[in-house]
Amino acid sequence: MGPQGFHLGQRLTSIFWLTLLELCITLCLPIFSVAAQSTPHHIDFPRVENPSKYVNPFIGTVNVGHVFPGATLPHGMVKAGMDTDSPGNHAGYDGDAKYNVTGFSQLHDTGTGGSIPLSNFKLFPYAWCSSYDKCPSSIANRKVLRKVKEDGSPDDWAEPGYFATNLSTSIRVELTSTRRTALHRYTFPPNTTNPRILVDVTNDGQRSSTNPIVRVDRVKAGEGGGRVYGGAEFAGSFGPGRYKAFVCVTFQGEGYTIDAPTEYGIFLNNYPTRGTTHSEQVYVGFQPELGAVFTFPPSPSTSSPTSILARVGVSLISAEQACKTAEEEIPDFDFERLRNEAKATWNELLGRVQVDVTGGKEEDVELFYSSLYRTHIAPADYTGENPKWESDEPYFDSLYCNWDTYRTLYPLMSLHDPVTFANIVRGMIDIQRHEGWLPECRGATVQHYMQGGSNADPVLGEFFIKFASHAESLGVSPEDLYTALLADAEEEPPNWNVQGRQVGVWKELGYIAQDMFAPGGANTKWVSRTVEYAFNDFAIAQVAKTLGKDQDVTKYIKRAQNFLNVWNANVTLPDEPSIKGFMQPRFADGTWNYTDPRHCSVHDPEKATCFLNAVRRDGFYEGSPIVYSQYVPQDTAKLIELQGGVEAFVKRLDFIFANDYFESTNEPSQQMPFMYHYANRPGLSTQRARQVLAKYFNTTRNGLPGNDDSGAMGSYVAFYMVGLYPLPATRQILLSSPYFANVAFENPVFNTTTVIKAVGFEGNPADGTGGKVFVESVKVNGEPWASNCYIDWDVFEKGGVIELTLTDDIIVSCGKDQLALPPSISTGGYD
Ligand SMILES: *[C@@H]1O[C@H](CO)[C@@H](O)[C@H](O)[C@H]1NC(C)=O
Ligand SMILES: *[C@@H]1O[C@H](CO)[C@@H](O)[C@H](O)[C@H]1NC(C)=O
Ligand SMILES: *[C@@H]1O[C@H](CO)[C@@H](O)[C@H](O)[C@H]1NC(C)=O
Ligand SMILES: *[C@@H]1O[C@H](CO)[C@@H](O)[C@H](O)[C@H]1NC(C)=O
Ligand SMILES: *[C@@H]1O[C@H](CO)[C@@H](O)[C@H](O)[C@H]1NC(C)=O
Ligand SMILES: *[C@@H]1O[C@H](CO)[C@@H](O)[C@H](O)[C@H]1NC(C)=O
Ligand SMILES: *[C@@H]1O[C@H](CO)[C@@H](O)[C@H](O)[C@H]1NC(C)=O
Repeated sequence: MGPQGFHLGQRLTSIFWLTLLELCITLCLPIFSVAAQSTPHHIDFPRVENPSKYVNPFIGTVNVGHVFPGATLPHGMVKAGMDTDSPGNHAGYDGDAKYNVTGFSQLHDTGTGGSIPLSNFKLFPYAWCSSYDKCPSSIANRKVLRKVKEDGSPDDWAEPGYFATNLSTSIRVELTSTRRTALHRYTFPPNTTNPRILVDVTNDGQRSSTNPIVRVDRVKAGEGGGRVYGGAEFAGSFGPGRYKAFVCVTFQGEGYTIDAPTEYGIFLNNYPTRGTTHSEQVYVGFQPELGAVFTFPPSPSTSSPTSILARVGVSLISAEQACKTAEEEIPDFDFERLRNEAKATWNELLGRVQVDVTGGKEEDVELFYSSLYRTHIAPADYTGENPKWESDEPYFDSLYCNWDTYRTLYPLMSLHDPVTFANIVRGMIDIQRHEGWLPECRGATVQHYMQGGSNADPVLGEFFIKFASHAESLGVSPEDLYTALLADAEEEPPNWNVQGRQVGVWKELGYIAQDMFAPGGANTKWVSRTVEYAFNDFAIAQVAKTLGKDQDVTKYIKRAQNFLNVWNANVTLPDEPSIKGFMQPRFADGTWNYTDPRHCSVHDPEKATCFLNAVRRDGFYEGSPIVYSQYVPQDTAKLIELQGGVEAFVKRLDFIFANDYFESTNEPSQQMPFMYHYANRPGLSTQRARQVLAKYFNTTRNGLPGNDDSGAMGSYVAFYMVGLYPLPATRQILLSSPYFANVAFENPVFNTTTVIKAVGFEGNPADGTGGKVFVESVKVNGEPWASNCYIDWDVFEKGGVIELTLTDDIIVSCGKDQLALPPSISTGGYD
């Protein structure tokens, strides 16, 4: 009853505000906006005016981080970057200098797995071919190394919106971009007499192209450096679909008007043929390397170098559209202007989260802004490039995948970039309108595989729970949002491998049974899907509550507790039998199968991985039963009860960390360090979160333990560093201590600033252990706050100052009584 009382109080406050808001909408809108404007906007610590200078885009570019370090705008469709011939070149690039460069391509994803996505339309420069016909044009023959710096790293440089490298051929390559167009600058060494550039239309990273078309426009002298356009069909990265992509490239000299190319032609595999202007599919089934090669006159002036600009438009609709948007977005080929504009755009966005750089370590600032930066590369804004239907709604792609991003990436966006968030949500709802279900995973305009639940549900929930009162003005229809959620929750799609959920079985049994072979998908991931479906329904219950749909609240809160149906209290951990009770596979008749709790962990005797493999079939996805048995963010209090009470729960978490059952590379583990909060031991959470960062994340090229997963890992690092951890689709955020004396979030929709002040901040312990970092007490706007363990969203909505008093004593609590614990369904937290 205690916790209920506390939360009831909170709820009454918000009802009061809601009523006031409703009144204001009709009566006192002007007064309300005056009130909003009076929110203090200044911060009383030095502002970081140029946060992009702290961004190191190379973190995670070796050892399977798969991070994209090239040039893009926030959520830009075009991501211009270098491609190397390394095995792990999912984002094109590899930070290890031993790999050769195969070209500079235009799209890319970041941090993903699957097959190599979107390394389409590579450009490649030559300085020294002995003749046009002898220019090696196939990837295997043309590739070259980079120059190497003294420390052994490649001579590459990147900052938000800009990438540069020096090739071993002494050609310098620089890239910048607008949303749908890249601008490349190739600076040739002074003695180059025949600067040449190749445009590769077919090599997408997978060699998957079919039906390629390449055309070279005949170019008249004095009208610029020629044009090549074309396109092909390619394979998606993590799904069954294929997509079309098109390119349009034009050239210009920098500092001089380039004349018509002296040589031009189509290449097929390793053979450029001078004078040819046109090529299509050679014969069915043949996947050629196809494109064009140009030779340009060098710079007419001996004092200025030969710098050739290539403007590269890309479209998912047609080559004509690629040419048109390129002309619109970059009419003037002004590389420096575009580079500066891109940087300014990034600075404005990143600067909405301010950290106090005084008194901390520069490396922490670098880790923070680099992590925040990586949360704004995907999803990508493909508005205007959706080939499937016409719509005035935004269209975002590279949703790869919601399974990765719903936990921390979108909650981070709520804090400082709600307008982009609203546009992504609108795009998702539009996909549901046209395809029947919300997207889960999507790349290059095609559906990709489901990883677990329909995790757009908590993404939409996160948006609506936090921005319901602004939804309409942000273009999100609450009705359409709710309709989209209900489609996932109630209607079984024909193929639940790529959209929606297996809701027939879910509604019938309340869990996904191991032995039900319904049509529509491969029956796999029974247990992890059950756990996620429960959380999906929790998100829907939260939206229903906000909309006042009481019957639906009851219905979905009940379904949110279905995780109980796969909880087997009798299964013990073989290496520690005192740890008892696990999520386990169950048959349709209610009897149980057994999965070793260590399955897919580092201690799995069978060394299974739980990666997506429908053929092998597995009850768990990218996480051990140990991990999934901790994953009930909607009702951790119930987990504590199931796991034998507070002492046993703490002991179990300690055991998980001590024995490497915490999986730093996969998202279901991310909340684990913070779970001590629910046991009223927030000091342990603070220390664990910091130990995890110290052990697995740093600012080197190797500084990620695994795939960045479209920025999901970056967002979790950013949250840990500001001393917060989100509960998606709720109005609560778990609280710890930041890595900085002050942190501020500027929210452009609320037009408020929320400052977290760490009073008595003395820096951060290098290994995360100990230090004066534990939260002893909390004040909000000068008043004592009832919990040291979580903050209500109202605080961020209204803006203000959250003041934390720090101590070096790890034995701190959430507050005086049970009331201060974070909410859980079973303690009435979301009633
Ligand atoms: C936001 O607040 C600032 C000052 O507090 C004010 O100058 C500005 O006009 C406000 N912007 C909006 C969109 O309300
Ligand atoms: C890289 O290219 C160079 C020639 O430019 C070649 O000698 C070397 O073997 C290549 N390395 C790999 C890994 O292919
Ligand atoms: C490449 O070479 C140029 C000219 O020598 C130099 O200014 C630049 O710093 C080098 N590195 C990169 C990544 O551009
Ligand atoms: C041109 O200069 C580069 C160094 O800038 C050198 O490596 C190359 O051999 C020279 N080529 C010719 C043809 O002189
Ligand atoms: C666990 O064991 C007890 C006692 O043998 C039994 O009553 C109960 O049904 C078992 N529970 C499960 C989930 O197997
Ligand atoms: C129980 O699960 C294991 C592992 O997934 C599987 O090999 C076995 O066939 C299952 N048992 C039954 C009766 O389906
Ligand atoms: C940086 O992080 C990586 C990935 O977790 C780790 O392998 C490496 O040892 C760390 N390096 C340093 C210097 O801490």
